[in-house]
Amino acid sequence: MFIYLNDKVVPSSEAKVSVFDHGFLYGDGIYETLRVYDGVIFMADEHLRRLFRSAALIGLDMHRDISGVKLAVYETLQANSLINAYVRLTVSRGYGPIGLDPDLCKEPTFVVIANAFKDYPQAFYSEGIKLIIAATRRNLKEALNPQIKSLNFLNNILAKIEAKKADAHEAIMLNAAGHLAEGTISNIFFVSDGIVHTPSPECGILDGITRSLVIEDAVKSGMRVKEGEFTTAELYRATEVFITNTTMEVMPVSRVDTVKFKVGEASRALLKKYKQEVNGYVKEKKGEGPSLWE
Ligand code: PDD
Repeated sequence: MFIYLNDKVVPSSEAKVSVFDHGFLYGDGIYETLRVYDGVIFMADEHLRRLFRSAALIGLDMHRDISGVKLAVYETLQANSLINAYVRLTVSRGYGPIGLDPDLCKEPTFVVIANAFKDYPQAFYSEGIKLIIAATRRNLKEALNPQIKSLNFLNNILAKIEAKKADAHEAIMLNAAGHLAEGTISNIFFVSDGIVHTPSPECGILDGITRSLVIEDAVKSGMRVKEGEFTTAELYRATEVFITNTTMEVMPVSRVDTVKFKVGEASRALLKKYKQEVNGYVKEKKGEGPSLWE
């Protein structure tokens, strides 16, 4: 396996980062998750713009531009002979003496890890997955804005520990006001009275790229979509629940705590539509990237 580290591809055995890296010492850094279908990075510009937004929100100078990052991803894919992949981009503040001052670090540490994409079990899509509502609340957006895809992931990890204890796949966190926010790695949707509901960005969530596409698809399909503040009680009364992210796409939910749900028409239709979006995108962009496979 090969890793892109700073400015080149190296074997994973040589991909080492200092114990003085501020990503390790303080969680000072950002990341992004990409999915590659048939050699094409899906929604590449949207993901890379979000990476640069995260960087701007923490005052991190990436020392490279969007096209440089894209090229690094393609080089990593090529080195690993991958065309269907999961890609994790990590950028930390870099190496520097102990101390919180970001100026102690002169160069960010830049890492691209690419793995073959492993499909989720088909039963997750046909039967749905189990969620819990976590006791852990989502970080206050005024404290650590969830729009920063930060390396500081303990908030989400504490909720994930709760999910694991309950034998659930994902935990949904409420915000400080007690409204639904999001999952540890996903956005949540529910359908009631035929309307697709999802917490608005003001609830303190990451505005997922999959979430935006699913909202667009729902509107295009003639569904009504309501973004706003919702409670757990409203979620329990829903007729369908599903979650979204780059790797899961649209994943139906069979249970939230003790409340059961059926995989419904809207979830099925939106997953189908999402897959069509992916196919259309891949067809359109195929050959646009560097011709690394020729
Ligand atoms: N997670 N909310 C949180 C907290 C997330 O971490 C993610 C993504 C999402 C969905 O965003 P998108 O649709 O752009 O993937 C929402 C990625 C997959 C991860 O952590 O690896």
